[in-house]
Amino acid sequence: MSLPEWSAIEALPATRLEVLFAAAADRVAALSIEVAGLHFDWSKTHLTTDALAAFEALARATDLSGSREALFAGEAVNTTEARAAEHTAERGEGAPDSVARAALLHARMRALIDAIEAGALGPVRHILHLGIGGSALGPDLLVDALGRDQARYEVAVVSNVDGVALEEAFGRFDPSATLLVIASKTFTTTETLLNAESALEWMGEGGTIDPYGRVIAITAAPEKAVEWGIDETRVLPFADSVGGRYSLWSSIGFPAALALGWDAFEDLLDGAAEMDRHFRLASAHENAPVLAAFSDLFYTQVRHAETRAVFAYDERLRLLPSYLQQLEMESNGKSVGIDGTPITRTTAPITWGGVGTDAQHAVFQLLHQGTRLVPVEFVCVAEPGDALADEHHRQLLMNAFAQGAALMKGRINAADPARSYPGDRPSATILIEALDARSLGALLAFYEHRTFVNAVLLGLNPFDQFGVELGKEMAKTADEGGLDFDASTLDLIRRAFG
Ligand code: F6P
Repeated sequence: MSLPEWSAIEALPATRLEVLFAAAADRVAALSIEVAGLHFDWSKTHLTTDALAAFEALARATDLSGSREALFAGEAVNTTEARAAEHTAERGEGAPDSVARAALLHARMRALIDAIEAGALGPVRHILHLGIGGSALGPDLLVDALGRDQARYEVAVVSNVDGVALEEAFGRFDPSATLLVIASKTFTTTETLLNAESALEWMGEGGTIDPYGRVIAITAAPEKAVEWGIDETRVLPFADSVGGRYSLWSSIGFPAALALGWDAFEDLLDGAAEMDRHFRLASAHENAPVLAAFSDLFYTQVRHAETRAVFAYDERLRLLPSYLQQLEMESNGKSVGIDGTPITRTTAPITWGGVGTDAQHAVFQLLHQGTRLVPVEFVCVAEPGDALADEHHRQLLMNAFAQGAALMKGRINAADPARSYPGDRPSATILIEALDARSLGALLAFYEHRTFVNAVLLGLNPFDQFGVELGKEMAKTADEGGLDFDASTLDLIRRAFG
């Protein structure tokens, strides 16, 4: 059932961006928000005062503020699994008991890090982190973004069950100086456990006397890790109410906390907590995650955009698009509402993207002249991450800003249509003052809350992911010899395995 508030949203006029800019001198200020060292500029989207009012009415009709309070209060907002979604408690913003539990588990992680640094597990120069999905993407992003200058540990995050990925890490690492980290919320994920067995074998064959003694398990099912053979003292649990794709704040962040140092990990949590408070307290039109979600829904529901592109104009954030793919698509790629009935609207768009300026020379053609509308997001950092001539960073940022301007302005060439640019193509820009643990924490928390607002306004539960189960089940059945498959699949199996 579609709420009547959607009618006003769907009736919003299709005014061109340049007209919106000409009509309101304060447009940039009105659609820009500063929080936690991040500047959010949504002025090059089609949001208007009327659009904001229409979306605010929808937010009231869907009880966004009630849902937000329920999230922070640790209520069972993940209705299909009857549990809370307590990633904010990891940053100190949540139900008091959950905050206390998270702090206790963080203290345990810190104690283990101190012990490792004091040499309790022997020499460690390499960290081999095995996990997949939410148990890999977050730590990988953190270490890649913030760990470039740290020389203490070399970190490899391996997720794919394809042995090529693991062999690549084996080729770089010394087995007797490697700490093996097995990260799996459920501790049942077949890819991770198979990779872990092979890594242990590699360590044993490489002369590590007690490979199991150099394993850390990170999981919400500690009993399973112990059953698997890992000593309880080296199991770092986290709460079941922390979802996989929301888990980098928990002990899943262990490799980042070890490689970047504990202070950096705390800064990450503090930055996220600042965004939590902003999300909780700022009014709708001054609230960055809320504003961004309004714009997301405008493009998917009114302009029927099927995708959303995110370009990091900073090499350090090159893994951001793949991190966001899981966060947004696994959370909101649903077709059943929170009440169990089919959703009649389109839900999450396909999130994709890349790194600037590379992407300009590959996919931007379609953004400027293609037939599909793709809202674009530029993520930029004002302070350079390199020590080369200023010209590098200047060119990088000028390219990002010029692309946003060109998408909006376009250029009509009536005499030569192939060289014509229609313009009126929306973009948003996030300009980060300086990339550090604190600002990255705030950025990732912004994306989490934006995903949540999208879910509430669409009436779906962003915290389950049953869509991934069927394929897993069928792969398992096939592996166990129960080949109840169609002719095409059976033919492929026969061709591959004989
Ligand atoms: O299959 C999807 C998924 O369940 C993700 O939600 C999760 O992040 C990933 O697999 C890994 O799961 P686990 O941490 O339990 O190994």
